[in-house]
Amino acid sequence: MIRRSQLYVPGNNERMVRKAAAELKPDSVILDLEDSVPPEEKGRAREILARLVQELDWGGKELCVRVNPLDTPYFYADMELVARLDAVKCVVVPKAEGPLDFIHRGTGRSVEPLIETARGLLAVEDVVRSEGVEAVSYGVADFALSVGGDHRAYVGNQTIRTLVVAAAAAYGADPIDRVFFDLKDLEGFRRECLEARALGFVGKQVIHPSQIPIANEVFSPSADEVAWAERVVSAYEEALRQGRGAIRLDDALIDNVHYRLARRILERAREAQRR
Ligand code: COA
Ligand code: MG
Repeated sequence: MIRRSQLYVPGNNERMVRKAAAELKPDSVILDLEDSVPPEEKGRAREILARLVQELDWGGKELCVRVNPLDTPYFYADMELVARLDAVKCVVVPKAEGPLDFIHRGTGRSVEPLIETARGLLAVEDVVRSEGVEAVSYGVADFALSVGGDHRAYVGNQTIRTLVVAAAAAYGADPIDRVFFDLKDLEGFRRECLEARALGFVGKQVIHPSQIPIANEVFSPSADEVAWAERVVSAYEEALRQGRGAIRLDDALIDNVHYRLARRILERAREAQRR
């Protein structure tokens, strides 16, 4: 599964839900029942999803639903809906603050927690090592709210980002970078994608169609990387046949770690191409 871009779509906006299925090319679509849907619209959003999700052709995109937080009265109805919709492959859990095994055990779906509260950050390891967790992301606006700060002070916060990528790497989940709110600033969006990628993130959550192609491009291996990876794999496999585990290629040391890195690049490039 490749998750370079994950598009949020307000669950009560039928036009956008249809557009996400038919016209847009994010790797994942996250149909939202939480913060983009006001309390009085929660029921209507569930009705729209119940009607459309099975009928639309999602064409290989990973279909996710963001349910409401565990401590709200909406959570159980949201989970009941997800359990009925076979097309939904992943439950996005906002404001995750502890083990989430019951969600995977109860639904069989994969789980993507959002780290966006003080408790969530302190418990990030317990959250991410829960059964069924395949990806993890975080939010700075809710985090700032939970600690009584200003969200601008948490944009680009390296502590949160480092904890999220470390937990993801430790437990085999995909770390996905946060939503970027300024819709006009596509250059800023691209810069943040590049920075996130350098930190180890493999994709970005997005909120508008204009952000999708940028995230897909930045989080795909570049032609140079693919060329490097192909040379490393072929040179290293030849070396292994001769009983050698360390070689010199372009005046650089290549050993097992570079080989594994190169294989991962080629695998991601193949997946990106299949999209
Ligand atoms: N999913 C699918 N389609 C979307 C979309 C989305 N997230 N955001 C915009 N579009 C569509 C619009 O429907 C419009 O298509 P149309 O002209 O065929 O109707 C087109 O893309 C251009 O949209 P635009 O007019 O630029 O957007 P807007 O100004 O009306 O809306 C937002 C801006 C931010 C309100 C909107 O993009 C949005 O709701 N994003 C998702 C928000 C969300 O889910 N937040 C929760 C997680 S943080
Ligand atoms: Mg949030």
